[in-house]
Amino acid sequence: MSEIHRASTTAPVNIAVIKYWGKRDPKLNLPTNSSLSVTLSQADLRTHTTASCSPSYPTEDSLLLNGSPQDVSGARTQACFRELRALRKQLEDGNDTLPKLSTFPLKIVSENNFPTAAGLASSAAGFAALVRAIANLYELPSSPTDLSRIARQGSGSACRSLFGGYVGWEQGSAADGSDSTAFQVAPAEHWPNMRAIVLVVSAAKKGVSSTTGMQTTVATSSLFAARANETVPRRMQEMQKAIQDKDFETFAKVTMMDSNSFHATCLDTYPPIFYLNDVSKAAIKIVESINAAAGKTIAAYTFDAGPNAVVYYLEENEKQVAGLFKSILGEKEGWAGQRGQGVTANDEAR
Ligand code: PMV
Repeated sequence: MSEIHRASTTAPVNIAVIKYWGKRDPKLNLPTNSSLSVTLSQADLRTHTTASCSPSYPTEDSLLLNGSPQDVSGARTQACFRELRALRKQLEDGNDTLPKLSTFPLKIVSENNFPTAAGLASSAAGFAALVRAIANLYELPSSPTDLSRIARQGSGSACRSLFGGYVGWEQGSAADGSDSTAFQVAPAEHWPNMRAIVLVVSAAKKGVSSTTGMQTTVATSSLFAARANETVPRRMQEMQKAIQDKDFETFAKVTMMDSNSFHATCLDTYPPIFYLNDVSKAAIKIVESINAAAGKTIAAYTFDAGPNAVVYYLEENEKQVAGLFKSILGEKEGWAGQRGQGVTANDEAR
């Protein structure tokens, strides 16, 4: 019986407040703009992944997600496997006593505790967990920054799930992607009372994949260039300052305006892409009425490539924000955060 080597890890979901939308290099997943996100609590939304390898495994690498076999032949997954194997091989080449794990087939087993591909950034947690599980299996000395560079090639937003707290992704300028990595803007303890609720409007798989959507937007939207070149660079600065200053009103305003800007470029895509539906729009109205009633901005909505709303707020406003959503919608399935509470922004990714 030959040996089996194994390592496990978990990675959290991140929800962008400045969205990544557009690739300048689709092969390397290099973005047309920098982005920024909040890492959510793994108690509620996470991927758990075990990576193992053995000379006794069937020759093909394999991936099981929530019990279903996945295709690993795609360029994205292959890029992650290839990069991690190359790093392991470097260690093996310099040390004869190390087992030649880089030559063994890989078996990856992942479980999400939330709907997959429903615009809930499942690919972000998924690729972050896959890359770190294999890096742990191979005992690579890689930093979160190094791993973010690899996870980015699996799914762009995955690079941000390698860090906890408030996380940026620098678009970079190098053609090989070496400077397109994630960085921590602030740890979760810096602003620990940030909360998020997730309204799962639909758990169905999204209609237009983010890759196809981005490509069509870049090719056809006349609004896109202004967003990528002017609006987002300015908002990246405003958002980082708002986080440093713990200025929720600015954080919220920039979050909502950026979500609107991203969905405007989707509508401006030809043919148009509609990720928001009537329930999403109702959630926007509810947030507006919460803020109007409070006389200040205490809640911020944002939507990824799907209809599900994520609403950010501070813990002290739990009742006015999460409480109101709950009273309108009742104890429906689909609220992330058990006990009806918000999801905590946290540092568990580290
Ligand atoms: O990482 P991808 O290719 O699934 O793209 C994610 C894009 C958005 O979720 C819409 C925005 C973001 O920055 O996460």
